[in-house]
Amino acid sequence: MTEQVRLSQEKETLLMALYLRALDNRRRTPILGDRFAQDVVDRIDYDFGRLGNLKGNAPLIATRARQFDAWTRDFLDGHPDGLVLHLACGLDSRPLRIDRPATAQWIDVDYPDVIELRQRLYGPIDGVRALGSSVIEEAWWDEVPTDRPALVLAEGLLMYLAPDDVDRLVDRALRHFPTGRLVFDGVAPWVKTVAGMQPSMRRADTGFRWAMPAPEAFAKKHPPLRLLDERSAVDLIAGHQSAAARAVTRALAHVPPVRDAMRFLRYGFTS
Ligand SMILES: C[S@@+](CC[C@H](N)C(=O)[O-])C[C@H]1O[C@@H](n2cnc3c(N)ncnc32)[C@H](O)[C@@H]1O
Repeated sequence: MTEQVRLSQEKETLLMALYLRALDNRRRTPILGDRFAQDVVDRIDYDFGRLGNLKGNAPLIATRARQFDAWTRDFLDGHPDGLVLHLACGLDSRPLRIDRPATAQWIDVDYPDVIELRQRLYGPIDGVRALGSSVIEEAWWDEVPTDRPALVLAEGLLMYLAPDDVDRLVDRALRHFPTGRLVFDGVAPWVKTVAGMQPSMRRADTGFRWAMPAPEAFAKKHPPLRLLDERSAVDLIAGHQSAAARAVTRALAHVPPVRDAMRFLRYGFTS
């Protein structure tokens, strides 16, 4: 049986990310290899065909998820009793893709209707709690433990928030945990401008509102963040291309606006 799905604006973009992970998984050599994505796509009553114009973004979305998975595994290796706060989880299967130690905690957060849909499609996931709220509300934080190292993941989220809400959310997380890591993706200002012109984004009636400042400046604005890693999506995608395409992409990755179009950032903090 398929699930009727009515999502709009920034919520509809979770279907785009899901579909692109399913497309990646159909490749002979997938970048991510998310075996859950196609199964979930097949169970959703939505015209995914109209996202066909996004196909070229599959390597980007798969590369992003792969990098976030790697940083999640790295965190759990170092903190088997840690907490993963998976903000804007959408329909991403990350808690199923990652081997989680029994001592770790995991909390998925997204809008209430997204969390309901997620639970209908995945059922309860062992060791995972789900909170349905906008991340910019305050009340849900009361449900989040404060006594353990945390990995705060925000994949495909911050660009949809107003800049003041990005600052408030980051500072709220930094006050909440004694120590941890913050991982997110940020787009360049020119990407913020053009994203809303993309046909699927226009149909969803959404666009980007926040662009990534210089990574060191972001850390200064949000003490005690310290920058641990900064990866260019374009540069990482090159690693999954044929030799000829890789040479061209790597050359392009030296051009700052291309290099910084989308970056994956990892920060550490100890209060
Ligand atoms: C591009 S999707 C990414 C979903 C998921 N991280 C993935 O990679 O598949 C954007 C997600 O951000 C969520 N989102 C946007 N604004 C939000 C907010 N204020 N509070 C909670 N979730 C939000 C949407 O519901 C959606 O799930």
